[in-house]
Amino acid sequence: MSDDPKDAAIPAQSTAPSAPAAQETPAAPETPVAHGDTLLRVEGLQKHFPIRKGLFKRQVGAVQAVDGLSFEVRAGETLGVVGESGCGKSTMGRLITRLLEPTGGSVEFEGRDITHLSTGAMRKMRRDVQMIFQDPYSSLNPRHTIGTIVGAPFRLQGVKPEGGVKAEVQALLERVGLNPEHYNRYPHEFSGGQRQRIGIARALALKPKLVVADEPVSALDVSIQAQVVNLLDDLQDELGLTYVIIAHDLSVIRHVSDRIAVMYLGKIVELADRKTLYATPGHPYTSALLSAVPVPDPRRKGHGNRRLLHGDVPSPIAPPSGCRFHTRCWKATASCATIEPPLIQLGTGQKVACHHPEHGPDQLPGDAPLVEPGGTVTLSETKAEAAPVAEAEAAPEAKPEAAPEAQTGTTTEAKPEAASVAQPEPEAEPPTEAAAETKPEAAATAPETADKADAAPAPDTAPDAAARDEAARDEAARDEAGPEGK
Ligand SMILES: Nc1ncnc2c1ncn2[C@@H]1O[C@H](COP(=O)(O)OP(=O)(O)O)[C@@H](O)[C@H]1O
Ligand code: SF4
Ligand SMILES: [Mg+2]
Repeated sequence: MSDDPKDAAIPAQSTAPSAPAAQETPAAPETPVAHGDTLLRVEGLQKHFPIRKGLFKRQVGAVQAVDGLSFEVRAGETLGVVGESGCGKSTMGRLITRLLEPTGGSVEFEGRDITHLSTGAMRKMRRDVQMIFQDPYSSLNPRHTIGTIVGAPFRLQGVKPEGGVKAEVQALLERVGLNPEHYNRYPHEFSGGQRQRIGIARALALKPKLVVADEPVSALDVSIQAQVVNLLDDLQDELGLTYVIIAHDLSVIRHVSDRIAVMYLGKIVELADRKTLYATPGHPYTSALLSAVPVPDPRRKGHGNRRLLHGDVPSPIAPPSGCRFHTRCWKATASCATIEPPLIQLGTGQKVACHHPEHGPDQLPGDAPLVEPGGTVTLSETKAEAAPVAEAEAAPEAKPEAAPEAQTGTTTEAKPEAASVAQPEPEAEPPTEAAAETKPEAAATAPETADKADAAPAPDTAPDAAARDEAARDEAARDEAGPEGK
């Protein structure tokens, strides 16, 4: 969105071991972070949801939703985070906004360790870090007026704006493109796009520095998605915001990101600036995600190979050994199944976790191709000449009728029996003021968290995601047809 950091090279990965997390960090003197400097730093971030079983609720395993993430977000930039459903993106978003307590690792905001801040100490930080939720229908309290919802952060934080809360809320409504006279209306009187605008107004009420938007447009109609993305873009320029925007689809991320982190099964597999990632994707998984984005220009359809992803993301209860992507990777070799590839920086500037990157020197040359008994590795390479859009639609994410369990069985090393005998422990968001502030009814209903806790871990959004994927692809097709927005 902002131009400066967009094309900046990726800095060398920090190798410093994360310091033991302090229980309570004393309040640091406020030092404003300059544009382009590190605003948020995450080291080895982990979230394992325990699975308990039996009368005494003994822990028998864990859902490794997020497993060792290290990255930084620079002031003024937009970091896009992309990956299929179940890769741990939302969990990551909730960890960095401290709506979830991490199992391991550290989160630093403006140079201050906030990993284990108490509720009281978190109160002030809530002003600076806000979250926009995916579902504009469930994230607004239906019993409260828009004025009450958008004004809630002022009341919860004890902030008294100069002209009064009402005037400030009306100004916010206007800024996000809503009629300020609708102050006394209820959420059900608004469309999906308008509700998301209300969610954005609420998130921006206290002028935060960092906004984490979890799939902010994927629940919206295609025609509305671009409007909301443009609104976020305008607000960033106007208010100097820093964004982490989560999406399951590279076509949405493309128009909003300066840098992009690709997540697979709880890990970052590629981290690159936008142009490099699209021009020379390093990780096979990134290539596959890019292949799923249709090319609307018939003159370009014959370029390159298309990599189609088969099957679902394996279960994070028992992730595959070595490289977690090896059960679906067409380049997998014997070492991929045993040696976990580190996230290293390639000559092209991006960081990639792969022994045999797409554009870069082979890290393990001469390694024997992996042939698994039963053919669990799916090789899927097809030429694009035939019909690129039709092929894209044949990708598993695009098939609403595809049953996730059936797909999982063919391509994963997950242990379904583990999921059936033991349920992940439901972990509701901490019942803090923060949760109430950002998601008023969350403490009462916690729709997302509760659903996930009850479900078998991976396939949480199959038909939904398929519909959204289709919508996002349509939007990308329209956008690509015009001049590039970013
Ligand atoms: N509260 C929870 N309790 C147990 N498992 C969870 C919880 N929240 C998420 N998970 C599991 O963690 C994994 C990652 O989920 P999530 O972060 O929502 O992924 P994404 O946003 O990429 O779709 C999934 O397998 C999901 O089922
Ligand atoms: S490390 Fe091996 S299995 Fe993993 S992405 Fe690279 S080539 Fe594929
Ligand atoms: Mg999610």
